[in-house]
Amino acid sequence: MDSGDVVIIGAGLIGLSLAFELAERGATVRVFDKAEPGKGASWAGAGMLAPYTENIEDEELLGLCVRSLEMYPAYVRAVREQSGIDPHLQLDGIVSPAFDADALQRLRARIKRLRAHGATCEILNRKQTLTLEPGIGKHTVGAMLVRGEGQVDNRRLGRAVLAACEERRVRVKTQVAELAVECSARRVLGVRTDRGFVSADAVVNAAGAWAAQLPGIPAQYIPKVRPVKGQMLALEIPRGFMRHVAWVPGAYLVPRADGRLLVGATVEEAGYDTRTTAAGIQELLHAAIEAAPALRDFTVSEMWAGLRPGTPNQRPFLGQTKLDGYFLATGHYRNGILLAPVTAKLLADEIQGALQDKGAQYANLEW
Ligand code: FAD
Ligand code: GLY
Repeated sequence: MDSGDVVIIGAGLIGLSLAFELAERGATVRVFDKAEPGKGASWAGAGMLAPYTENIEDEELLGLCVRSLEMYPAYVRAVREQSGIDPHLQLDGIVSPAFDADALQRLRARIKRLRAHGATCEILNRKQTLTLEPGIGKHTVGAMLVRGEGQVDNRRLGRAVLAACEERRVRVKTQVAELAVECSARRVLGVRTDRGFVSADAVVNAAGAWAAQLPGIPAQYIPKVRPVKGQMLALEIPRGFMRHVAWVPGAYLVPRADGRLLVGATVEEAGYDTRTTAAGIQELLHAAIEAAPALRDFTVSEMWAGLRPGTPNQRPFLGQTKLDGYFLATGHYRNGILLAPVTAKLLADEIQGALQDKGAQYANLEW
């Protein structure tokens, strides 16, 4: 890669995956985080890799998500080889059970559209559904199965990408206070922190739900990103009780290799509040137990909440702004874990191109 120091603000899966990619291409990369690395939404999320099951209506966004899903095996392999940490990628399909004839009919209609977008999916009858997932309630009438979707253990992935970045000599500075971007009228100059000034040819805002709060950015370049709260909980389940991610009415269920079943998630406009609430947890438990009644006897081992980086049209902001050298990689809303590999590639291409040729365009919504 041509010369150039890149500063990435935000050590979530988006910032770290980009750093990993840029370092592979020979860039000198520093990542700054105001807190612990990988402890934002990237830690709080469920790790589902589910472009089709998520029911994304925006065709371009769906296409981007599908592209990223295709990149996942190679991305995880590279991270695992560099870090020695296995993020437990599992692409064995996601099941969406129905509990009445109307719901099953809606799944049949959805399948047509999903197939037109490249999904390999089918309708299972009641017996097939219960054979695939005996933990689902016996009152199911059938299900949709999307093959090739699945999950990654996003907490393990966060640790793995951080370790992989360090192996590639990315300097990750955490607990950084008073971080502000510095720029002239035309271009970004670098970042200032309580530890001094660091100049950079490119500065990337990968600050997730806090992306609009970064000090020092002129108002016209502030991305319209807001926090969208999601509460989740984990149950301790017996081995084999549930094997696939299940998308049930009002919740999703994500069985982890370590014996936990994640139940998520609420979608709330609550600012930067990350409390778990009685109503939020009740909503999730009610939906989970309706779909899989045996869950009522299992232990709740953890409850938490995180902040999705939401945008007005649910599309991320990806690319260079009109402020020379200032890039956005944020606003991934419900699918930032899924979108990490494609974001890293697109941004690395664009940063590389911009450092070689200063004529790069503002491309936040053009993929
Ligand atoms: P984050 O992981 O939040 O990282 C941003 C980082 O920036 C943080 O470490 C923060 O400390 C740092 N930062 C912020 N401000 C500053 C500053 N001023 N200076 C320095 N550092 C700063 N996505 C999926 O693909 N699949 C899922 O199943 C899924 N489930 C989800 C469930 C829940 C409950 C939630 C909340 C999200 C879920 N998501 C899921 C969405 C996904 O988690 C996010 O889109 C993704 O993690 C965003 O990554 P990020 O790196 O942009 O943000
Ligand atoms: N993608 C799942 C969630 O955001 O809750």
